[in-house]
Amino acid sequence: MYTNVKVNNLKCEYSVDPLGLEVLRPRLSWHIESDCRGQLQKAYQVLVSTSVSRLEAGDGDLWDSGKVDSDNSIQVEYDGTALQSRQRCFWKVRIWDKDNQPSQYSNAASWEMGLLKKLDWKANWIEPYYKVPDHEAGPCPMLRKEFNIPSVFTYGRAYITALGLYELYINGQRVGSRFLSPEWTDYSKRVQYQTYDVTGILKKGTNAVGIILAEGWYAGRVGYYEQRRHYGYRPRVLLQLEADGIIVTCSDDSWKQTLDGPLCSSSILDGEYYDANKEMPGWNKPGFDDSKWETAACLDWSKTKVVSQYNEPIAVTQTIQAKSASSPEEGIFIYDMGQNFAGWSQLKLKGRKGQQVKARHAEALNPDGTLYTDNLRVDCYVGPPKGTLPGAGQTDIFILNGNEEGEICEPHFTYHGFRYIEITGIDKPLPLESVIGKVVHSSAPLVSKFHCSDDMINKLMSNIQWTLRSNLHSVPTDCPQRDERLGWMGDAQVFSQTACYLMDMSRFFNKWIYDIRDAQWENGFYTDFCPMVEKERCSGAPGWADAGLIIPWRLYENYHDTRVLQEHFDSAKKYIDCVHLANPDLIWRNETGKPFSDWLNGDSFIMDDWPKGNAAIPEEVFNTAYFAHSTFLLSKMADIIGKDEESRRYLELFNDIKRAFNTEFVDSEGKIKGNTQAGYAIALHFDLIDRELCQAAAGHMVKSIEDYNWHISTGLICTHMLMLELSRYGYNDIACKLLKNETFPSWFYSVINGATTIWERWDGYVKGRGFQDPSMNSFNHYALGAVGQWIFENITGLKLDAEMPAYKHFILHPRFDGDIKHACCEYESAYGTIKFAWKIEQTDLRFEITVPPNTEATLYLPAENIDKVTEAGNKIDSVSGIKCIETGQKITFCRLLSGKYDFLVSEFE
Ligand code: BGC
Repeated sequence: MYTNVKVNNLKCEYSVDPLGLEVLRPRLSWHIESDCRGQLQKAYQVLVSTSVSRLEAGDGDLWDSGKVDSDNSIQVEYDGTALQSRQRCFWKVRIWDKDNQPSQYSNAASWEMGLLKKLDWKANWIEPYYKVPDHEAGPCPMLRKEFNIPSVFTYGRAYITALGLYELYINGQRVGSRFLSPEWTDYSKRVQYQTYDVTGILKKGTNAVGIILAEGWYAGRVGYYEQRRHYGYRPRVLLQLEADGIIVTCSDDSWKQTLDGPLCSSSILDGEYYDANKEMPGWNKPGFDDSKWETAACLDWSKTKVVSQYNEPIAVTQTIQAKSASSPEEGIFIYDMGQNFAGWSQLKLKGRKGQQVKARHAEALNPDGTLYTDNLRVDCYVGPPKGTLPGAGQTDIFILNGNEEGEICEPHFTYHGFRYIEITGIDKPLPLESVIGKVVHSSAPLVSKFHCSDDMINKLMSNIQWTLRSNLHSVPTDCPQRDERLGWMGDAQVFSQTACYLMDMSRFFNKWIYDIRDAQWENGFYTDFCPMVEKERCSGAPGWADAGLIIPWRLYENYHDTRVLQEHFDSAKKYIDCVHLANPDLIWRNETGKPFSDWLNGDSFIMDDWPKGNAAIPEEVFNTAYFAHSTFLLSKMADIIGKDEESRRYLELFNDIKRAFNTEFVDSEGKIKGNTQAGYAIALHFDLIDRELCQAAAGHMVKSIEDYNWHISTGLICTHMLMLELSRYGYNDIACKLLKNETFPSWFYSVINGATTIWERWDGYVKGRGFQDPSMNSFNHYALGAVGQWIFENITGLKLDAEMPAYKHFILHPRFDGDIKHACCEYESAYGTIKFAWKIEQTDLRFEITVPPNTEATLYLPAENIDKVTEAGNKIDSVSGIKCIETGQKITFCRLLSGKYDFLVSEFE
């Protein structure tokens, strides 16, 4: 007898049917599909086979787990025969349900191993030589080679990477849909290779392979540095093509190269110069005459480690059409895409041979309707002593070839942060449908939907999501437009829980943790951004460096990833030990790097009648709070991975730091040194205040908000903590007020002023006053969007439970502010889709809930008397699926087993 439970959505290392995997014991997960209440998994059986036919026959020749009594349906580690390079693995799974009835097997899924050993690579690095220009981006070299495949084959693979960026073509066809590959890592230590399925592109007989290279992050300008070539001088490439696991060609000195292609220059920050008259039709197909091309030269294998890409590729995830056009001056045409985002523009046009068309990109317009580019910093700083900071040009130039059918102008190896495009060099405006925006970022899947009765909040959530999407380019960046775009760790860590509510960050953050470790100083300090490109290594800033503990912890809480904790533990411990060593009295005063503290707090605002000087939290309060918190996380990590002695030791250290914090900074009435909003927020958030003083400290926090006429004075790091702690300590109404203030600083202020993404500064733009300091005024900066976490956890009320990670158990606890009448969300958890909606109708409050199989939830009902609560019309003490009920003051908690529920609270006020 089979249960009618279905098993589907099989993933391996967070990914559907991955290729090129290098994880020797991959982790498997599946979803259980069932409408039945209380459905769960009592046991599972996984079969992994070397072929589909063996799998179909039930022969798990690589691994047959047998029946394993366990409720694990995520992070199940492969435990079969040792996996080899190129190994193809086909797998399926079945489960035993709550009644111990087996399900049918799932459909088959697969994974394939990559090139695990250096010896698997027969390819050599090839690097086209050119004289490197001092202050400009170099040309984009093109490479080609023809080769023969003597017999038919069943599958083809391309393994490729570059130091720089590449586009790969086979037989005239662009391979894959990735952009900006191999993406950014610390190339002096590690570069990622990509694996493509080229089965349908390779053919028996003569084939041609072509590659275009660009300098990218490797040899181009990065961050706010004038100089280029942080990692190397010219791009180089490594390629191996295989059919049925046999090498059919690879990069070596038999390749041909030219520097005379149409991509005359390309830079991530500045844009591209493309001359269509230099196109060479057929260059990437067999039969092209390359006799005038030069022969490529091989290089030694560099020290750089070549590893398979773990994170989702950077890809075009959406296209948008221009919404309106204007012409502020003759010959200048401005297009408004209606949305600030990261990517590039695609122009469809017809013109004369040799005609130059220029597209500049920016986030805002000047009052006269021209493009506002000051915040791209092109003209901000000039000359010594600061050095020239040339800004981000964000300009693509196309020389047309006059093709009668029209031309498509689109860059290859750059990206811009923009809402507006200025086009010059055209005789008349282009129709809106000819101006397309390509939205480009690391394609981590969006995992949630949110809606509530307040459209301003909906818009804010949309702005937060767009800002996240704009700042994922294999590294979580601060901003996508100016000459910065660095993996600032402080911004990433404060926003990380919001990011996890919006997107599946498992693969992205797992990759970035390698970057974090690659950048770590030998003495243990983490850097302030990574990958790190500064020689002196900007490092150790409290709140920034601490991302080295917070990001792995997010992966644990959200995805139950314990492997990342195991791999990262020694590194994290080294960091805590070096902060401790430098600060033996446990107050973090020494070795603070550049202490950015609660960056861009209220003391940085330009506003008359604004209290000055009381916003910035004293640095040692901020620093010590982070020292305590990271030490606490380290002790938790040790506990989870079974390092009991270390767990005890670091818990003791945490308690000692906490004691020192209270002695040094907290008085007997719960007032914290500096009496700042940020001080209370961070101390409460990290549970640093002695329990009996917490409520008093929360009261001081509220008073410090009143002192600012009920406005926020916190900065990038402490703002979301302020919101979360207000709601936790019973001041949800004040948090709602802060959210909705229509005067700045507040989130609604930017929405009212037309924001489509989150601004770097509360006062980025003020009507009448204009733009803030252009040297630092991004309109696409996610840090202040960390309020998304508060919105999720308090307005819809969905919150993860760190004690039972990955939503094995989760909390449903909305807080009602009286104004919002309904809210709903859907979240794709590792176990399946959670749905939660609440709605107030007169005096009725209704909840609709889906708890995925194999998980549980705790619902907080705002009712003391359970007689006022029904589920699908029944009294709740007799409903199946409700595991237990507890009543507290004005609240009833119900522990729900999996299934769908429809609760009604009557006489709700
Ligand atoms: C970035 C910030 C970052 C900061 C360090 C800025 O330039 O844009 O978001 O965290 O530097 O203070």
